[in-house]
Amino acid sequence: MPYKLLFVCLGNICRSPSAENIMKHLINQAGLSKEIICDSAGTSSYHIGSPPDRRMTTAAKLRGIELVGEARQFQRSDLEKFDLILAMDRENYRDILMLDRSRQYQDKVKLMCDFCTRHNLKEVPDPYYGGPEGFNQVIDLLLDACEGLLDYIVTQEQLIIS
Ligand code: 4NP
Repeated sequence: MPYKLLFVCLGNICRSPSAENIMKHLINQAGLSKEIICDSAGTSSYHIGSPPDRRMTTAAKLRGIELVGEARQFQRSDLEKFDLILAMDRENYRDILMLDRSRQYQDKVKLMCDFCTRHNLKEVPDPYYGGPEGFNQVIDLLLDACEGLLDYIVTQEQLIIS
């Protein structure tokens, strides 16, 4: 059974699809695409069915990452389905845990920035209403966090890198 990761933000069109596609890129590079799989979702229903935001896609492309995906809303059943759920900010974290009525999945939910090793920010800022620099910052933070996250999973799960 592969290890299943879910990245969650508000709209599932900026931060979490970036995290998903960056992580997939790193997993492919490490030869672990059969061992670790990724998905993303939004806590809101605002953009269900939409592709990643064009501004986010442009910022990712500048760093060699192609963004693909279709927004979906986070569901209670995701708490059971995934091994680790990464929230982009504290509001997402709280909204995810609100669906865990029996409080049995709390340990699966973590803040994405907890895996950063080069940046000090504790949340991935919502870039939606800002300028292009906000989108570039999202990519910078996520490249850092995804590297840390991959190291964490490989150590935790003792996966053998082929
Ligand atoms: P995301 O960004 O949560 O990173 O996908 C946002 C996308 C849309 C909205 C807010 C944040 N919105 O308010 O529509």
